Amino acid sequence: MKNDPVLLQEETLDPADWNALRTLGHKMIDDMFDYLQQVRQRPVWKAIPADTKQHFKNSLPYLPQQPENIYQEFTKHILPYTKGNIHPRFWSWVEGGGTPLGMLADMLAAGMNPNNAIGDHVAMYVENQVIDWSKQMFGFPDSSTGILLSGGSIANITALIAARNQYNKNIRAKGLQAVNGQLVVYTSSETHTCVKKAIEVIGVGSDYLRLVPVDEHYRIRLDALRDMIASDKQSGLLPFCIIGNAGTVNTGAIDDLDELASISKKEACWFHVDGAFGAIPKLLPEFEQQLAGIEKADSLAFDFHKWLYVNYEVGCVLIRDGDAHRNAFSVSANYLLSHEKGLAAGPEPFSNFGMELSRGFKALKVWMSLKEHGIEKYQRLIRQNIQQAQFLSKLVEQADNFELLADVSLNIVCYRYNPGNLSEEELNTLNKNILMQLQEQGIAAPSYTLLQGRYAIRVAITNHRSRLEDFEILIDATRRIGKELYEKNYSLV
Ligand SMILES: Cc1ncc(COP(=O)(O)O)c(C=O)c1O
Repeated sequence: MKNDPVLLQEETLDPADWNALRTLGHKMIDDMFDYLQQVRQRPVWKAIPADTKQHFKNSLPYLPQQPENIYQEFTKHILPYTKGNIHPRFWSWVEGGGTPLGMLADMLAAGMNPNNAIGDHVAMYVENQVIDWSKQMFGFPDSSTGILLSGGSIANITALIAARNQYNKNIRAKGLQAVNGQLVVYTSSETHTCVKKAIEVIGVGSDYLRLVPVDEHYRIRLDALRDMIASDKQSGLLPFCIIGNAGTVNTGAIDDLDELASISKKEACWFHVDGAFGAIPKLLPEFEQQLAGIEKADSLAFDFHKWLYVNYEVGCVLIRDGDAHRNAFSVSANYLLSHEKGLAAGPEPFSNFGMELSRGFKALKVWMSLKEHGIEKYQRLIRQNIQQAQFLSKLVEQADNFELLADVSLNIVCYRYNPGNLSEEELNTLNKNILMQLQEQGIAAPSYTLLQGRYAIRVAITNHRSRLEDFEILIDATRRIGKELYEKNYSLV
């Protein structure tokens, strides 16, 4: 065997020259620190030039290239054309900006490279600590369970799988035919579409996701919910789950979670809360009342990468009844059996709590970030974002030709430029063009939504780098661009 010529050419992916890669690594870290430190001086967003787009159509590389050259390509074609969510004037969708230590934590986690599903190794303990801290943040009992996931969408799906399987213990084996009838889920018409996907994935079918109308503050109408449940029961359908919003994606509205918890209890429904970002102010005493009821939920989905500013990606689900959680996902297999000692001992596998058997060490960046800043600093930053939203809404209210399109209950401001004398359709076109110009000119990156058919420039503030002056810049630029477009008959400049 030893003379086998193939074995004489054993290879590895580790560098032949460790020192050269070490030098390059140090340069990368220096460059990234400059990049983060100077973010305010750059445009929020830059359109990707044609040659860069073309660059990503190259064919599969068969031959090796030097890391230095690959890094040059990165600095030329990748780094400049990023999404912009680390910038102080990025307020699109609901996206956090990450932190420098979060970046380093991801590097450390990638260096350790554990697969954090099973086994007696420290990443399992770190993730369990992060889950325990999450329980403390939201008032969940010690006996509840949880898992870190890629984000709110998968956290919602994971919770709803547990809810469905808890409804009838035979569903895992027999599928939904184990249920003698049609399951129905209730949530407000403002709920994020990932919930619709979840209801489809769990086999209930989105025709049986009742989108309950909202009041003038975009909160679920409890009277309508009660009526819908009664009518469905009368038709022989099976209400099994109510989903409340702690912060709707459009406007940040918070449903009456306490009342939803009571209705769920009365109707023997699972109570799930989508708190992707809006559950986070549970950390603030002044939100005690508005967010009351979260701690009563059977399950809660929330994200660390949104309003806790942790680097992408990391979300979390907590499930009150640990057995309901593990009964939904645990499997036994000879190759996964726990041992008394050795590597296969250790904490309960995370594969008992979700779909994944391969999962990274997301927990490290959460653990390091929470320790670096402490909850008190997060409380100040979350409050800062809420106050910035109030500041922006006042700027909008005080400015001529501006209109606020929804209450500002949390951190989302929806407004439009309205110079008067335009139809709703023309206003929609004008505001869409204003938004595209704000982004193309690299000034600011709000996003958009439609509220009762009206196109809104939507500013979702989950940004620890924003300052009050950034919102003044936004309003000034909206006014300037709006006026220019209006005078040019709102065609694009
Ligand atoms: C209220 C709400 N729920 C769920 C999601 C989906 O979360 P993720 O993008 O982390 O999957 C979002 C995303 O913005 C959201 O705002």
